[in-house]
Amino acid sequence: MKKSFYITTPIYYPSAKPHMGHAYSSISADVIARFKRLDGFDVKFLTGTDEHGQKIQKSAIKENLSPIEFCDKISKVFFDLTKKLNLSNTDFIRTTEKRHSETVQRLWKILEENNKIYLSKYSGWYSVSDEAFYSKDEVESVENKKICSATGSVVEWVEEESFFFKLSEFQDLLLNFYQKNPDFIQPASRKNEVISFVKSGLKDLSISRTSFDWGIPVPGSDKHIMYVWLDALTNYVTASNFFGEKSFWPADIHIIGKDILRFHAVYWPAFLMAAEIPLPKKIFGHGWILSGDEKMSKSKGNILDPIEIIDEFGLDEIRYYLMKEVIYGLDGKINIDNLKNCINSDLANNVGNLSQRIFTLINKHFSSKVPDVKLLKEDSDFLFIPMNNLKTTMENLEIHNYVREIISYSSKINKYVNDEEPWVKVKNYDDRVGSILYVALNALKNIFILLHPIMPEKSENFLSCLGIPPENISLQLIDQNLDSNTKLTMPGLLFKKHI
Ligand code: MSP
Repeated sequence: MKKSFYITTPIYYPSAKPHMGHAYSSISADVIARFKRLDGFDVKFLTGTDEHGQKIQKSAIKENLSPIEFCDKISKVFFDLTKKLNLSNTDFIRTTEKRHSETVQRLWKILEENNKIYLSKYSGWYSVSDEAFYSKDEVESVENKKICSATGSVVEWVEEESFFFKLSEFQDLLLNFYQKNPDFIQPASRKNEVISFVKSGLKDLSISRTSFDWGIPVPGSDKHIMYVWLDALTNYVTASNFFGEKSFWPADIHIIGKDILRFHAVYWPAFLMAAEIPLPKKIFGHGWILSGDEKMSKSKGNILDPIEIIDEFGLDEIRYYLMKEVIYGLDGKINIDNLKNCINSDLANNVGNLSQRIFTLINKHFSSKVPDVKLLKEDSDFLFIPMNNLKTTMENLEIHNYVREIISYSSKINKYVNDEEPWVKVKNYDDRVGSILYVALNALKNIFILLHPIMPEKSENFLSCLGIPPENISLQLIDQNLDSNTKLTMPGLLFKKHI
């Protein structure tokens, strides 16, 4: 039986249309999901929308819609984006679904039974934009406004009856857990942030609201709805069918942006510990896509629309660019000149050109069939792809290095072909021509297999020209050279150059 692997993206607030930052988060998770599939895993890949809370209620009012009408409308935009990005998600969850409210209410009851919840009163700062409570030390005054120093979002004073979760009981348990599971929070640089937050002292967390009603009702209460983050985080458990017959919980990895690390690496494990539910294995906080020097976000009005860019440059090209250029885990600036440069030099001039040259020669001199090779005698004929390194690189979630290594391998094959000059040798009736083309063609096969998680459509198109259907693409094929005499079809222009 196949080993399973469960990966999630954050679930997005449908408070506004998606932008490039959201697309980045989802694409990176898709790349990992697809790589695991190539490696033989049965992958569950979850994404979706986070639809409750004050922020959504306010956005709905602005548009003169009921919250659910508003969510139906914008959630669909996020759903359509999964298609536009060619995500291989196996589920799309909406927190307004019945399966979800049932799960969250069940979790609430467990927390209650385990004596982890009590009723009191919350007085403190709240940011609707972050849907987060902040302590007075995290808040500062700027131009008559109170804002959260870390996120810059406006906070308001809230005083209301509230249920509390006994987060303070989990300080040592969490610190112990991080110590025993050093890979739980990744990249490692983010771990210290979390540890110092927990060490600074955890206060009990308000987990219900009474001043508005767009949320999942607290069981047994007619005025409290649940705090949106308790509701939202539970989506990962809902989709795994945890309380059903066959569940694939715990998650192997939650992919999130660094701004929501506290919720995932502190609150979420504490809720789960309190409910005696196993913890996810890893939380990866990636960096931000910056516009200039700022985080791209709707409130800053500096967004790049993923749909427009994809329509102009092509989806796989954008996926490639984001995965290669932004170091996974760090912030990255993206701009159109850089994007064009990347497409031209890596894709059109390197991989595209290599494939064009090899196919043209095979077409002309070998009747479009894989050359028949008897001997591969020269050292340079054994240009193996560094498969083990690449696997480790991906397992360490260094997606950028994975892509860079593949492209440098492609440069190596280009150099090999340049040095061997098969177009000269063919004129001299040199026997080695078939071998050279055979080596280069197998290298191209491997390049496109490994690029499949990054550029699924380009990879499938190319590999189909070698007679490999999409369902057969796997890491195992890396070691299997093409059969001589296999009939090839000529790929069309793989990558267009941009000026
Ligand atoms: N709804 C919560 C997540 C709940 S998960 C249980 C949320 N939603 S969000 O729509 O505001 O953000 C979703 C994700 O998009 C976050 O991980 C956030 O980091 C990411 N990004 C938003 N802007 C981004 C960039 N400019 N760059 C990269 N990722 C960014 O938070």
